[in-house]
Amino acid sequence: MKLWSGRFSKETDNEADIFNSSIGLDKRLVFYDIKGSVAHVAMLEKQNIIDSQEAQMIISSLKQLEGELERGETEIGDGYEDIHMAIEEILTERIGEPAKRMHTARSRNDQVALDMRMYALDASIDIIESLEGLVKILGRKALGHLDTVMPGYTHMQKAQPVTLAHHFCAYIEMFLRDISRFEDCKRRMDYMPLGSGALAASTFDIDREFVAKQLGFSGLTKNSMDSVADRDYLIELCFCVSLAMMHLSRFCEEIVLWSTEEFGFVSVSDAFSTGSSMMPQKKNPDMAELIRGKAGRSYGELMALLTMMKGLPMTYNKDMQEDKQAVFSTVDNVLACVSIFGKMIATADFKPDTMRKSAYESFVCATDLAEHLTKNGMPFRDAHYVVGKLVKKCIDEDRLLFSLTIDELQRESEYFGEDAASLVDPERSLDAKSAIGSPNKELVESYLKNILA
Ligand code: ARG
Repeated sequence: MKLWSGRFSKETDNEADIFNSSIGLDKRLVFYDIKGSVAHVAMLEKQNIIDSQEAQMIISSLKQLEGELERGETEIGDGYEDIHMAIEEILTERIGEPAKRMHTARSRNDQVALDMRMYALDASIDIIESLEGLVKILGRKALGHLDTVMPGYTHMQKAQPVTLAHHFCAYIEMFLRDISRFEDCKRRMDYMPLGSGALAASTFDIDREFVAKQLGFSGLTKNSMDSVADRDYLIELCFCVSLAMMHLSRFCEEIVLWSTEEFGFVSVSDAFSTGSSMMPQKKNPDMAELIRGKAGRSYGELMALLTMMKGLPMTYNKDMQEDKQAVFSTVDNVLACVSIFGKMIATADFKPDTMRKSAYESFVCATDLAEHLTKNGMPFRDAHYVVGKLVKKCIDEDRLLFSLTIDELQRESEYFGEDAASLVDPERSLDAKSAIGSPNKELVESYLKNILA
């Protein structure tokens, strides 16, 4: 018999029961649900809403069940409507009458809101920790490549010299922003919704602050309708994940590109590559490709949640049960991706010689040459034109800028000084930069030491 069957005169259709059920997904909320119930019942007892003896029976039965589940002695079956019903039914089987008082002054609507907030808070902490671990991995790897000069790109065209360390630090900045975003959205999750009832609280003299304190929340939600209708915190969480996945995906794209024979900037460890069933020579960067692919799933899940919510009138609507699939998958996905990505980067073999060669055999110092002319008094726009013409001359003659003699340079402009050709050197370009945030090696080193401290 259904716990809500009083006003019904027919059994639910079997297929409708299965369709309606969320137990398959929400059973993973079991420990949150139990903790929430323990706090709720302790409050009911304190407020003399239920008898102390009965309250203690419920609490010890909840704790007993919790222990059995932890030890793997009991499992929640799939035959329930959802996790909230499951626990009440199990308890009723075990202790009878008192269990029927557990749901006093509570609805599944505020209960599921509580469970999901507790889950989302823990998930945020897990994601923050995994991103902090990733930042350390990237920082340590970057420290080993402070001198690895490489071309920096815009439009996928060689642009100006940077170091691999500086390139890594760009991603460190992105992941640090991600961490602060999760911390920020975590602050907004940290409000306890229980006591809002189905939508309009209840007539019992409950103590919501007591429950919040028991469960470690920083505050209370302040409107009973919003408390049960709100899924913003889940959408924010999924948005933060989507952004972090986008960052991972961009990095993965570079790993895929850099491990091509054409680039040869990196060799991903065999432990994080796979082969081809047909082509014996192949070693493919599958981990990076999978992460890039899974970023799309996160976006899809975020869109699913936004779309699910956009037409819902106040307050709780069953559509919202669909949140679990998207949120659980998003969280599992990002944790798996950050972990595998960190291992892949930690073990990858970046190729300083190839990177350096790629920077030296290019025009990445053309801007330095134009800046040299400008420092000697020529307006930057004119200097840009002069160096542009020299680049064209080099391309036509299959040469590089550093090979131009002082005569050839001064034929284009008398603003070229004796030391001009020596400035066409990626190392010197890096040393010549001193602004905060520039690829100057010492600045990058102190940035990294700060990150790793
Ligand atoms: N399984 C439901 C969910 O996940 C719990 C809340 C159900 N509330 C209700 N009135 N049917 O959303």
